[in-house]
Amino acid sequence: MFLPKKTTISLIKCDVGSLAGHHIVPQPLFRIAQTNLEKEKQTGLINSYFVFNAGDDLELLMVHEKGERHNQIHGLAWNIFKEAADKALALKLYGAGQDILKTAFSGNVCGMGPGVAEMEIDERGADPIVVFAADKTSAGSFNYPLFRIFADPMNTAGLVIDPHMLCGFKFDVVDTVENKTITLKCPEETYELLALIGTVGRYVVSRVCRADDDLVCASSSVSKLSLIAGKYVGKDDPVMIARAQHGLPAVGEILAPFMHTYFVMGWMRGSHWGPIMPVGLKDSKCTAFDGPPRIVALGFQVSDGGIASDDDGNPMIADLFDDPAFELARREAVKEGVTLRRMGEFEPARLGPEEMEYTTIQQVLEKLGKRFTPAITAQ
Ligand code: F6R
Ligand code: MG
Ligand code: MG
Repeated sequence: MFLPKKTTISLIKCDVGSLAGHHIVPQPLFRIAQTNLEKEKQTGLINSYFVFNAGDDLELLMVHEKGERHNQIHGLAWNIFKEAADKALALKLYGAGQDILKTAFSGNVCGMGPGVAEMEIDERGADPIVVFAADKTSAGSFNYPLFRIFADPMNTAGLVIDPHMLCGFKFDVVDTVENKTITLKCPEETYELLALIGTVGRYVVSRVCRADDDLVCASSSVSKLSLIAGKYVGKDDPVMIARAQHGLPAVGEILAPFMHTYFVMGWMRGSHWGPIMPVGLKDSKCTAFDGPPRIVALGFQVSDGGIASDDDGNPMIADLFDDPAFELARREAVKEGVTLRRMGEFEPARLGPEEMEYTTIQQVLEKLGKRFTPAITAQ
């Protein structure tokens, strides 16, 4: 029997070291990724690739036919990250090997530090894909846009107008504290979904499927570095893949939630709420107060197991946030960021105590602990 090959989109990222603090991935590290991926394109392990950065995170976009969590694909990413981390160390770049938390590779990079979003699909006639990568923020930061895209008819007109979307969408949600998962169906369980995913520090949407045929529509990274390492080691800086059009949200509906900024956890020292700023690749670098947290969105078409490419064989990539339509969101991010920064270390600018548990403030509090004496109060 003839079984059509499935296509897998893998977006695997890692902070391997950066230039000028936690600012940007420098060229020598890009080159290591490009050289290795080109080599594996020639061997046929992958069909297409694109290397980019989200601030200080090196992002490897690979399209292939090996399936999700494949040991050769994950092994390739792991070896690139290790080689780039060695180079970062040699160049005395900042935070060399920051996200390489475990040393022994055992088949896939999940739970080892790098972030992963993957999606195996049966290619449709034309399949538009949007990948997102964020810096200086945590897993859970995509909960809000994913809800808007797949469950909010005020964002996604297709939920009302396209008969193929009336069936609704199913959300897989991971409880990152107890390491368990649940599937909730919208619109029927909209309120229950919100009850969970509004707590962005704990519950993370990992996957979205169309309800009537389980067609996979979105996939996002869920790993929380603080839970892997048991302490603060930099933020998760999550990645996400969404599939668009023809019975799914349009590319424009996938991007619409980013017309305004919204608040995410991360920013300076992973300890503050910050307004997310959608930017083109040229502005994918964090500066003020190590931020504001940035997000980039790249669009492409999958074709015959790869990324549709131009006549010279180069993958055709659209830098979707490099657009004046997101200027208002960028301005809002600056304005609201300034308001938060005026509050300095006072909540709600700083994260609440539950999240601060995984930051270096604990060492400061421990030092003070010994100096506390019983308080005589009027109660
Ligand atoms: C946040 C981030 C930075 C650092 C900050 C202090 O994800 O990476 O905000 O936390 O620059 O960095 P260190 O402790 O390396 O000096
Ligand atoms: Mg860093
Ligand atoms: Mg980062």
